[in-house]
Amino acid sequence: MPSYVTAVVLAAGTGSRVGSDVPKQFLSLGGRPMVAHSLSTFESSERVRAVVVAFPTSDAHGVDMARFPKVRARVAGGETRQASLGKALAVLPPETDYVLVHDAARPLLDRPLVEKLLDALDDGCDGAIPAIPLEDTIKRVSTERVVVEQLDRRGVWRVQTPQFFPRNVLEDSLAKADKSGLESTDCSQMLTAAGYRVKVVEGDPLNFKVTRAADLWLAEQVLASRPE
Ligand code: CTP
Ligand code: MG
Repeated sequence: MPSYVTAVVLAAGTGSRVGSDVPKQFLSLGGRPMVAHSLSTFESSERVRAVVVAFPTSDAHGVDMARFPKVRARVAGGETRQASLGKALAVLPPETDYVLVHDAARPLLDRPLVEKLLDALDDGCDGAIPAIPLEDTIKRVSTERVVVEQLDRRGVWRVQTPQFFPRNVLEDSLAKADKSGLESTDCSQMLTAAGYRVKVVEGDPLNFKVTRAADLWLAEQVLASRPE
């Protein structure tokens, strides 16, 4: 049984694909900064004991941190997501033995998904991630926008966060990735590369990542139509 779970919220990116002046994770969504939504979910998840956030600088960026007493540390992130993760792991509360890593760009995370992940680790695996089987037809397309081929989507899933790992497994995988030059936007790829077994649980279609401006609009609609 996990005893001390710390959530790491990654919010140190620039959000270049959204194209706003302010990084997307600080844009207003449902009346508060995007990052505040997942911080609230972790705040209200009883089995999450502490939170560490990576921001572009150690400043609060207008987020009312007084609302999130579980946040034990705020760090300035790095150049890449992986570098931001490394900086956050360096300041984990010492009691931490399990880590949930989450992208602030997924503001619609709800508590049931967190619970599902916390219950997913068993003897046969070293980590658990949420994912959804691909439903659309998948094509490889050339740079000239001509179809090259259709890909077989059987067994292909798209991956979300949060991702749940024993602390020692995540730290070992990150150290190996950094050493070998593996740079990944997905933590579980580092585990797989290090030879660990990662289990998949069914993700939540509404836990999508805000990547472009249209996703922001969609997230706003979902929030407006669901009770907090
Ligand atoms: N992230 C981070 N540090 C970085 C890069 C990304 O903490 N150096 C975080 C982002 O803030 C986001 C998550 O990782 O919550 C997923 O990254 P992504 O959606 O790619 O966000 P950005 O990198 O900010 O956006 P873009 O790639 O469009 O610039
Ligand atoms: Mg990015």
